[in-house]
Amino acid sequence: MCGIVGYIGKNNCVKYTLDGLKHLEYRGYDSAGIAIQNKNSIKIIKECGKIKELIKSIEKIKLPESNCAIGHTRWATHGKPNKLNAHPIRTNTVTLVHNGVIENHEILKKELENKNYSFKTQTDTEVVSALMDNYYKKDPIKAIEKTITKLEGSYALGILFKDIKDTIFAVAKNSPLIIGIGEDENFLASDIPAFINHTKNYIILEKDEIAILKKDSVKIVNLKGKPIGKKVETVNWNLETTKKNGFSHYMLKEIFEQPEALKRCFNKRLLKTNVNFEFENLPLEKIKTIKKIHIVACGTAMHAGLIGKSIIEKLTKIPVEVEVASEFRYKDPILNADDLVILISQSGETADTLAALKLAKKRKIFTLAIVNVVASSIARQADSVFYTWAGPEFAVASTKAFTVQVAALYLISLNFAKMLKKIKQEELKKYCELLNEMPSIIKKILKLNDEILNYAKIFYKDKNMFFIGRGLDYCLALEGSLKLKEISYIHSEACKAGELKHGTISLIEKNTPVIVVASQNEIFSKTLTNAKEVISRGANVFLICDETAEIDEKNFKHFLKLPKTIDFLAPLYFIVPLQLFAYHVANLKGCNIDKPRNLAKSVTVE
Ligand code: M6R
Repeated sequence: MCGIVGYIGKNNCVKYTLDGLKHLEYRGYDSAGIAIQNKNSIKIIKECGKIKELIKSIEKIKLPESNCAIGHTRWATHGKPNKLNAHPIRTNTVTLVHNGVIENHEILKKELENKNYSFKTQTDTEVVSALMDNYYKKDPIKAIEKTITKLEGSYALGILFKDIKDTIFAVAKNSPLIIGIGEDENFLASDIPAFINHTKNYIILEKDEIAILKKDSVKIVNLKGKPIGKKVETVNWNLETTKKNGFSHYMLKEIFEQPEALKRCFNKRLLKTNVNFEFENLPLEKIKTIKKIHIVACGTAMHAGLIGKSIIEKLTKIPVEVEVASEFRYKDPILNADDLVILISQSGETADTLAALKLAKKRKIFTLAIVNVVASSIARQADSVFYTWAGPEFAVASTKAFTVQVAALYLISLNFAKMLKKIKQEELKKYCELLNEMPSIIKKILKLNDEILNYAKIFYKDKNMFFIGRGLDYCLALEGSLKLKEISYIHSEACKAGELKHGTISLIEKNTPVIVVASQNEIFSKTLTNAKEVISRGANVFLICDETAEIDEKNFKHFLKLPKTIDFLAPLYFIVPLQLFAYHVANLKGCNIDKPRNLAKSVTVE
């Protein structure tokens, strides 16, 4: 993971570099540092912990005036998260910041030790700076080319050479690196929010391209130093999207943004009574031949995929398998020429999902990516992309990104079903009309926020929690449970309600919290029976159902009733109270909601 930035231009680089880093803290927050280039030297300042610790240190010292700096915020992979291992890392002539993992660093380190290099840190990055220093003979492009030829793994590097003033070099492979093009100033960053305050124009650096940034120019060259013409893209969202706008946390803001995110995802694709969009590179002829679909994703995106399986199978009758990417990539999956692989990823950078995509492509299987971040690695490499348009999501706990992933799966399935003539016009019309109501239904649920807070007050001191549900509700239980554990550190487990009696029920004792998700009217009575089974063993049940549910209030002291639509569409809005519940529990416990311990937003390591 990690976030890297670089600034060169008309302004004081320190402020701009730190500002950029603050916007990348979602990528890791174990340590942070900057390297400032001035007339005679390169000054490095690093601190353990979040960017605010680095800022405190910088405020205590007088820094030289400078217009050129690189910076880093770290999610530790190799070496402890301490000040020593923080980036930037320097070896003699080379100072650099790195995002990625160098898989052959141990071998390279031995080779360099034989050349009398010694290593101060435990990082894989120091091997890169030493290697580059070893190759640097006054020709930076040659040194970069020789270095990266020896590297195995992933890297995005921002590089300063001691004797080359006012120039930042950059190179990347399998880790994102974006060049922001401003007026008399240019930027380097792992993600666009780092510079969107200053410019909306950007270039994505691809494998085997080297960027040379100066105050008034950006040159992209190949590994032989030959210039490459690159398209300058423009961001279509603004700074406001990157602010908390009065919300106490990004997570809460993003939960409340769900109605708008859904509208953006539906825009032009979902009409009043129909769906209307095309799949890039995926014509009807190809869709007709699909025999099986594999959905591959991680974490929350995988939970969206589990819901997607039910949706696709119901609407298109095409069988679907769902697998977490870290398993899929190593299990030698059975893939046939007429299969379709759907990758789901908010960031579009998750290393395991990216590897799964590459595996599918290598086997010549058509890949369709459902991605939020525009021009991310997965979006660029998939055969076809369906952008979810949730807007930037900063909280580590994914909320609005999940909802639009599920929405995307409804839209894609309806479109497939329509194209394959597997759905009657009347049915399609009904689903489209109900989907169009979703943003306003979610708005109604957001009004239950205070009620949900009151339930959080009942449960936040508990140490263990269970989430149960059947069918689609089990997928929601999985997601509700993940949301709770990742931000509140309460141990939680999701269980298929009907499976409780085969083992898990032995864990239920007096006051054990059990959150029952019961959106599916068709099996409501079955779920209710399971809820009663845990109540009779002393569980403290919180039931989430819809307004039509008849509940015996003697048994169910805590329940929340949501608006009713149809069972099939419930995942789109039943998730919202679970997100709010997790948020309030974590907030009442005083947890670091947007940046939970040990996690990062983009998991770019396997
Ligand atoms: O960016 P991606 O959607 O590929 O990320 C996948 C998971 O890392 C992510 O959903 C993770 O599980 C979230 N922290 C959950 O809230």
